[in-house]
This record gives sequence, structure tokens and C-alpha cells, in this order.
Amino acid sequence: EGAPIPPAQEWSFSGAFGTFDRAQLQRGFKVYREVCSACHGLKYLSFRNLAQPGGPEFSEEQVKALAAEYQVTNATPNDEGEIFQRPGRPADRFPSPFANDAQAAYANGGKAPPDLSLMGKARTYERGFPLFIIDMFSQYQEQAPDYIHAIMTGYVEHPPEGFSGVAYNKYFLNNAIAMVQPLHDGQVEYPKNADGRAVVPETIDQYGKDVAAFLVWAADPHMEARKRLGMQAILFLIVMSGLMYFTKKKIWKRAH
Ligand code: HEM
Repeated sequence: EGAPIPPAQEWSFSGAFGTFDRAQLQRGFKVYREVCSACHGLKYLSFRNLAQPGGPEFSEEQVKALAAEYQVTNATPNDEGEIFQRPGRPADRFPSPFANDAQAAYANGGKAPPDLSLMGKARTYERGFPLFIIDMFSQYQEQAPDYIHAIMTGYVEHPPEGFSGVAYNKYFLNNAIAMVQPLHDGQVEYPKNADGRAVVPETIDQYGKDVAAFLVWAADPHMEARKRLGMQAILFLIVMSGLMYFTKKKIWKRAH
């Protein structure tokens, strides 16, 4: 039995002109760091990526300080031939919480928490013919973040009679998910307005959106540059077509 289709959310980055919301990416990173990183790696992301244009755009200083809070394994041994740990630098990748998949599975009751580097692109669902043809242009175009948000909000407190699993999630295939509900209202502190209230609600729903947006960026860090270049290429082709049309008219004009 398939799981229900995750409800389509509004994303600032969808569509041909969509861009990431910097503040949202920064909040999403905070959620990843304070909650998800206990179990999930982000092994293809380097600290320095967090300062690059088109992403959360933390300052270089912030990224340096952040990297230094992590202990990473140096790529080469020291003079005595020993492998050693040192504080992270911006060029380092995010260290994973487990040494390998076997350890990760062992620590999580047999199922390894997947690395989240590509999760913002990796999960989709089937809406079947003919809908999948228009999904590229519809509100269903951002399936992975819709799915991640749905998983975050899809936990059921009272699973049906007879269910015996770690946790029950409406949107997980077959419902039995090995990840206990990671998010709770008020769990992650968000930036505050002058009146002392959080800029956005500190709720599971909002955390889920923010961390999903962050993971989409992590999986596709050059999205903004790519979309811009695509638009420029199309504009160029339109202008070029016009020039070519008039060139053709001139070259093939009758001589009389
Ligand atoms: C699986 C996201 C926190 C343990 C997953 C999956 C996603 C995800 C997208 C894949 C689901 C699928 O295969 O379709 C997140 C996010 C988190 C978070 C965004 C933070 C907000 C945690 C924490 C733990 C954990 C804190 C450990 C206590 C697992 C495990 C799985 C999993 C064991 C494998 C589940 C299975 O295949 O049954 N997570 N996770 N996750 N996560 Fe998390």
C-alpha cells in the first residue's frame, strides 16, 4: 500500500524565478544542527559552503567560528603516523555522527539514518500518468521538501491497534519508521523581533519547512546561479532568433 501524497507546500525557491529565503536557510541549518545532526550526516557539505552566495550566506567569520566548534579527523596522519582529530576549518566537510553505516544501524535499532546531503532532491512520489507530466510545472514540483515536511509533521500519537514498530508515520511507506519523532513545538529557539516574539512560529510545522528548505539548498547549492543562467540563455536565444530572422530576410531577398 502506498503512503498518501504529501500536501504541497509553498516554497520560495519553486518556479523558474524562485530563490532561497536566506533567513529560512539559516533557521533550517539551526534545526539540522541542533536536532538532526545527532543521527544524520551531511557529508557532501563543507562548512565554507554556508558562506557562499546563493545559500544561507553566513559571514566568513561565522563559518570559521562554527567550523572550529567541530572536531574533524585530519586527512593525513601526523609525523608519528597517528591519525588525529583537530578543530574544523571552513574547507572541511561536516563530520558524520557515525563512523560508517554498520555503526549507524547498530545505534539505531538496525536501520541507519541516511545521510541528508542529497535528501532535498532524493525523495519523490508517484502521482501516476498523466499527472506526472504536469507536476514539473504544478504546485507538486518540489516533491522532496514536501515529503520531508510531511515526514516531520506526520507522526501519529496513537497508532492503530496492533501496530508494533518504533514509530508510526502517516507519510512513510508502510508507516513503520525507525526514526522517532525528531521535532517538538518550542524545541529550537528562533531569532526574536523587537517585541520578543519569534520571527516565525516555533512549531513543528515551521521547523519542518525550514529544515526541508535548508536540505534542498544543501542538495542543490548552485540553484540560483543555474536558474539565472538558464534565463539569460533563453533571453539570448530570443534575441538571436530575431537577428537571424532579419538576416535571413536580407540574404534571401529577391534581387529585382
Ligand atoms: C530517516 C530526516 C532527525 C533517525 C530519515 C529520513 C529523513 C529524515 C528525510 C528518510 C526517510 C525515508 O527514507 O524516506 C530527519 C530530519 C531530522 C531527523 C529532517 C531533524 C529534524 C533524526 C534523529 C534521529 C533520526 C534525531 C535519531 C534519533 C533516523 C533513522 C532513519 C531516519 C533511524 C531511518 C528510518 C527508516 O528507514 O525507517 N530522517 N531526521 N533522525 N532518521 Fe531522521
